Amino acid sequence: MTPAKVELGRQLFFDARLSSDGTISCATCHNPAMGFTDGRETSMGAQGQVGGRSAPSVINVAYAPNVFWDGRAASLEEQAIGPIANPIEMANTHENAVARLNSCPGYREQFAHVFGSPEVTIENVGKAIAAFERTILAGNAPWDRFINGDAGALSEEARRGWDLFQNKASCVRCHAGFNLTDNQFHNIGVGFDGPDPDLGRYEVTGVDGDQGRFKTPTLRALRYTAPYMHDGSERTLEDVIEYYNRGDNPNPCLNEQMKPLELTAQEKADLLALLDAFEGGGWMVAAPIQLPAEP
Ligand code: HEC
Ligand code: HEC
Repeated sequence: MTPAKVELGRQLFFDARLSSDGTISCATCHNPAMGFTDGRETSMGAQGQVGGRSAPSVINVAYAPNVFWDGRAASLEEQAIGPIANPIEMANTHENAVARLNSCPGYREQFAHVFGSPEVTIENVGKAIAAFERTILAGNAPWDRFINGDAGALSEEARRGWDLFQNKASCVRCHAGFNLTDNQFHNIGVGFDGPDPDLGRYEVTGVDGDQGRFKTPTLRALRYTAPYMHDGSERTLEDVIEYYNRGDNPNPCLNEQMKPLELTAQEKADLLALLDAFEGGGWMVAAPIQLPAEP
């Protein structure tokens, strides 16, 4: 990780020339103004093609041992080059994308400086983008300061919310640790009541019981990342809390934690105040002012 490598990754992340028709960059679906999501239920890629899953935030993805809703990629380097050649995302080929970047002297200069050779390769594109993603970090929110000993950092309401989060509502069984995720996969019933449900983790492992399991997402910057869940099926944070309160969508693989919570109106408000206290900013980055020009 060097500043030059991160800056190169930032330019690539915002560069729509990686896509087949020059219209879609990583930031189209991972837009900093929307907490690095796209505000859509499921993403729309090149030529208006719609995928089946919601774009997750890339905030704090540096801490994730595996990526995607189903955990199918093990590293950010591996993940970063996937969308370029994905027919419903950037719909390009790696060869075309690399050729286009190689035609920009401004990129060749930076690749020479960062990787020791001006030749743009797809592996090095992945490395630079991954280095940039590792700088998109959130922490130091009121909740962090509270658990680090500053008792006044949380409002009365949020403090009650934290108690509910750990006890009555037991959110902490899955949303645990600094990044509020156990990095595990659970079936909490989302989208699993329809006729042809997304099987999630099962599509990667083939292990019985993994049907409908998805990665526990971080709870950072939630006000920016609506709609929620892997299929974008919950519109607001109030809706998410209602969803857990109902303990809905029974199915054979449902996590046994998913039971009606019987929260009062005050308790729902307390939980909401806590979710807001997980947000401390710091993750927003600006788009590059200028991208390397083509001759
Ligand atoms: C057309 C929209 C779209 C584009 C363009 C796109 N992504 Fe994504 N991204 C998604 C969706 C949807 C997912 C979730 C897919 C899944 O889990 O199966 C995702 C997942 C990810 C993840 C995993 C996050 C996590 O928490 O597991 C990372 C990291 C990521 N994208 C980075 C990138 C990078 C880097 C680029 C550009 C090279 C890019 N994306 C381009 C829609 C997009
Ligand atoms: C059994 C594990 C588990 C428990 C308990 C749990 N969650 Fe989750 N949470 C998940 C998983 C897995 C997802 C993603 C599910 C999906 O998309 O299919 C999720 C998604 C969410 C989301 C949406 C985030 C996003 O970016 O889309 C929020 C908000 C949330 N949980 C808050 C809570 C709260 C509040 C509680 C307690 C009332 C709670 N969770 C309890 C595992 C859990």
